[in-house]
Amino acid sequence: MSTESEPAAASIYSNKNPFPAKHTTNVKLTGGGSQKDTRHHEISLAGSGLSYKAGDAMGLVVTNCPALVEELISALRAKGDEMVTGRDGTPKPLRDALFSDYAITFVEKKFVEAAGERGATELKELMAPERAADLKALLSGKDACADYVDLLLKYPQLNFTPEEFVKLLRKMAPRLYSIASSLLAHPESVHLTVATVRYKINGRQRQGVASTFLAERWSGETTAGVFLQSQQKHFFLPADAATPMIMVGPGTGVAPFRAFLEERQALGHGGPNWLFFGEQRSTEDFFYRSQFEAWVNDGFLRMDTAFSRDQEQKIYVQTRMHEQARDIWAWIEKGAEFFVCGDKQRMATDVDNELHRIIETEGGKTPEQAKEYVEALKKSKRYKRDVY
Ligand SMILES: Cc1cc2nc3c(=O)[nH]c(=O)nc-3n(C[C@H](O)[C@H](O)[C@H](O)COP(=O)(O)OP(=O)(O)OC[C@H]3O[C@@H](n4cnc5c(N)ncnc54)[C@H](O)[C@@H]3O)c2cc1C
Ligand SMILES: NC(=O)c1ccc[n+]([C@@H]2O[C@H](COP(=O)([O-])OP(=O)(O)OC[C@H]3O[C@@H](n4cnc5c(N)ncnc54)[C@H](OP(=O)(O)O)[C@@H]3O)[C@@H](O)[C@H]2O)c1
Repeated sequence: MSTESEPAAASIYSNKNPFPAKHTTNVKLTGGGSQKDTRHHEISLAGSGLSYKAGDAMGLVVTNCPALVEELISALRAKGDEMVTGRDGTPKPLRDALFSDYAITFVEKKFVEAAGERGATELKELMAPERAADLKALLSGKDACADYVDLLLKYPQLNFTPEEFVKLLRKMAPRLYSIASSLLAHPESVHLTVATVRYKINGRQRQGVASTFLAERWSGETTAGVFLQSQQKHFFLPADAATPMIMVGPGTGVAPFRAFLEERQALGHGGPNWLFFGEQRSTEDFFYRSQFEAWVNDGFLRMDTAFSRDQEQKIYVQTRMHEQARDIWAWIEKGAEFFVCGDKQRMATDVDNELHRIIETEGGKTPEQAKEYVEALKKSKRYKRDVY
């Protein structure tokens, strides 16, 4: 078995030497009336020698939106052809460096500090210890969050040479995505389920770098660097073909479970499979509906859905777990493995709390005993999470 730190398979390609891949499919999974733009993407691995296992993730090397690069060049009062130091230390035009080498959608503390020293008094004040929360909000918080264009336009007295400016930037980081396919079902291909990040702050449209790169800026013959990341140390299919699986995957968290199910189907594994899927609306946001329903009809899958906005009262995956507590406990006692994928901040905690409650009520255990029971599940790798 490969480890978390090594590439998923032997190939000349890795995170240090990403494979130049083509994007072959980009389809919306959400309907026209949805509040989201979640997409199914397919990426070709043909010719790479790369392979992965169900549960693994794909890394994607991305570039910034060219329109934002131009806005930033203009806010810097530069031309774009000035030579600056690129991320690898070699000189390149500012425009190219901003496009591919550096993160430009969120400001760095180093920049706020430098701007404060160059006369942006309000920014200097944010460096005081008692303003730590305001500084945090500016750097990464929701509504008060700024990017370089915002601040350079707000403080026109700021004057950075292109080289001074790029020295304050963080290097662009690749993004990871759970793989939503099995190689056995889709040879030489990676499928992803990606929520496109778009939002407005102070009237300006902001967008997630990688998710909009996938949705809007990667097509045709253009290649982008991809690599595979093994997750087999913490997120992997049961070793035994007969082991029951309970999978909780609302939103894009469903991605690795599509991969698990495709893999188990291709291998002819007979263990029972149970999926809890949740999204906002059944008519607009039921990802992979026909594939999942076909599996339900074949008796391969048991599925419970929680559409949070189909009714006034929110219904979440843990609501469905609560309703099915007796069966969940019976499956776990029969040796089921319990998987969770998706939102880390809220969902994963709420699902964990519900699991504890089920063990207490159905298993007749005290809260302390339930905690020990869950710890034992984790220790024996029967409770596996991939949350982000
Ligand atoms: C192991 C792993 C697996 C993952 N799998 C998936 C997957 O299968 N599908 C998937 O879609 N994602 C997945 N992710 C998340 C993914 O890696 C990216 O973080 C995600 O796509 C956003 O990247 P981006 O470059 O588009 O956005 P970025 O440019 O990184 O911007 C995202 C940031 O924007 C800010 N933001 C977002 N929305 C708002 C808002 N409304 N208001 C204010 N600020 C906001 C937040 O600070 C957020 O962190 C996974 C992450 C990990 C670590
Ligand atoms: N790190 C990043 O940069 C990044 C980027 C993108 C996404 N993400 C994370 O990925 C998550 C997945 O996003 P997504 O668009 O696929 O789906 P999502 O936002 O998780 O929504 C999926 C479903 O879960 C529901 N939900 C909300 N709160 C919940 C809770 N506490 N417990 C259970 N279900 C809950 C939602 O309902 P309602 O919406 O009706 O409440 C919706 O029906 C995001 O929430 C976010 O945390 C991270």
